[in-house]
Amino acid sequence: MSAPTAVRPTEDELQAQFDATIAADRRIEPRDWMPEKYRAGLVRQIAQHAHSEIIGMQPEGDWLLKAPSLRRKAVLLAKVQDEAGHGMYLYSAAETLGADRADLTDKLVNGKQKYSSIFNYPTLTYADCGVIGWLVDGAAICNQVPLCRSSYGPYARAMIRVCKEESFHQRQGYELLMTMMRGTDAQRAMVQDAVDRWWWPSLMMFGPPDDDSPNSAQSMAWGVKRHSNDELRQRFVDMSVPQAEALGVTLPDPELALDETTGRYRFGQIDWTEFKQVISGNGPCNEERITRRRAARDDNAWVTEAATAYAAKHSA
Ligand SMILES: [Fe+2]
Ligand SMILES: [Fe+2]
Repeated sequence: MSAPTAVRPTEDELQAQFDATIAADRRIEPRDWMPEKYRAGLVRQIAQHAHSEIIGMQPEGDWLLKAPSLRRKAVLLAKVQDEAGHGMYLYSAAETLGADRADLTDKLVNGKQKYSSIFNYPTLTYADCGVIGWLVDGAAICNQVPLCRSSYGPYARAMIRVCKEESFHQRQGYELLMTMMRGTDAQRAMVQDAVDRWWWPSLMMFGPPDDDSPNSAQSMAWGVKRHSNDELRQRFVDMSVPQAEALGVTLPDPELALDETTGRYRFGQIDWTEFKQVISGNGPCNEERITRRRAARDDNAWVTEAATAYAAKHSA
């Protein structure tokens, strides 16, 4: 008796299987066949996300040695450390698609891959740490909760844990701001100033408007992305306005108003010229962020080399 010969599925059959998995809202896993554009698009998105987590440690990391109390220092340290963990899950998810972690870092420091524009703004006072937690992590939650249902299994699963930690980040930020708002006039002014500087860049975190977002349609068809940039931005505004009122701060937008018919907030025009400037490398801190990241890679190369040598010795 001869063994049955395995019939290799054709490219069309593989594509049909992939399409059926997406249509049934099931997950694509690393062992599954996937179109090259799907794979490359995911590597780009996951790498950009991982880079944002790692670069995102810098603005708040600047305050670790200047935190006003031991309690604040412990909270901030835990938060910044979480962001390192998020970067690690995401680089691991990119590795399941065949990407190489060291190569991704090289692309970041050589300016070939991007990270979120928001981390190119400076943290001028301790209130900035609170506002980053409230608004920046808050915007990240709006962006990332739908990614828990992303069609790529490892990415979706990484997002579940990341989102749990992000809600801690948002709460610690809001709690810090609440405390400052109960403090002195100078502290309240510090919070308002930080809100004035971070509000518009937070709205830019959702990316360009839908009619100027070339990759969005394909990404939504593949179930990687679940909602459009403008839809997520609107959700974030609707969520943040009542929180600003409870806090007692004014959001720096005279056009912000509740639309009685839709129950949603109308808001002013975003400065997309500023966004394009920052994303193309000309924000206030782009150079500093990348210089530091490059130095960390180079100064710590011996750790990677030692770990690689140790692993090779053990497997031998
Ligand atoms: Fe994070
Ligand atoms: Fe976070």
